[in-house]
Amino acid sequence: VKKIGVLTSGGDSPGMNAAIRAVVRSAIDFEMDIVGIRRGYNGLINGDAVVLDSRSVSDIIQRGGTFLYTARCMEFMNPEGRQLGLEMAQKLGLDGLVVIGGDGSFRGAEKLSELGMPTVGIPGTIDNDIVCTEYSIGFDTACNIALEAVDRLRDTALSHEKCSLIEVMGRYAGHLALQVGVAAGATAVLVPEKVSDIEKDICEKIREGRSSGKTHYIVIVAEGYKDKIDDIAKLIETQTDISTRVTVLGHIQRGGSPTVMDRVIAARMGYRAVDLLRKGIGNRIVAIKNNEVVDYNINEALCMKKSIDLELCEICKSIAK
Ligand code: F6P
Repeated sequence: VKKIGVLTSGGDSPGMNAAIRAVVRSAIDFEMDIVGIRRGYNGLINGDAVVLDSRSVSDIIQRGGTFLYTARCMEFMNPEGRQLGLEMAQKLGLDGLVVIGGDGSFRGAEKLSELGMPTVGIPGTIDNDIVCTEYSIGFDTACNIALEAVDRLRDTALSHEKCSLIEVMGRYAGHLALQVGVAAGATAVLVPEKVSDIEKDICEKIREGRSSGKTHYIVIVAEGYKDKIDDIAKLIETQTDISTRVTVLGHIQRGGSPTVMDRVIAARMGYRAVDLLRKGIGNRIVAIKNNEVVDYNINEALCMKKSIDLELCEICKSIAK
């Protein structure tokens, strides 16, 4: 019987619990023992482990967050920390490890694999910025949470004839902002991947809108955009004379019950990760390509390139009137 571990690392995302559940249940189905490592790589170093059975993952599929807790671990970035992690994994009798997280977490997974502990990564982040995969667990839920908030802000922006600027998360990437902006019918979306001209792309649109009877405006700003949202708001206000309001959505986007998409992808990825470890294959990241589950060598995966959907940027611009 093989024994594997599972941990969540980095920022949490809705659907991580569903992924842990899939890992645990498929491991048991493959007659493997499974332990949960709590608090990410910190827990691996400290031996913060708990034996999991089928019932220990009951009633978590619908919950946001991660019941194994998560952390960003500085110690694991250096060789000494990783050596301690490896020794603890060996002490726990692990034959493999599943790491659910983002790019930073996968670098740790790669190093562990190099040291002889087969490790498989599952992409989980609301930012959808993991370069090797079209999709990461949590993105759809975060988009929907942000969208609901923007819809509410639109009600009040409309009533008071204001321009509402809304900052969404995404770290250095604009995927979340773009999806939400298109779905919310925003006047403009500002993403880090493209420099926008506030005068041409927003102020002019507001003046044109005004002359055709439009009275309120929604602008989505990715947190990674080069200018501060308050400065952009002031500029719009002085250039167009419209009253502006700024809302930073923040961590509300990371919580909540995962959508169908996040739960199903979590199940598919969790199963694949365990299937790889069962065959003794490590140093892989599970990913989505053309809606199929695939897996890549970690080093190759981390060197891949991913850009923002430029066509969707154009569509967004074209239909925002
Ligand atoms: O990676 C997920 C994320 O929520 C990013 O969108 C954001 O930039 C970051 O984490 C915030 O991290 P923290 O909660 O540590 O401030």
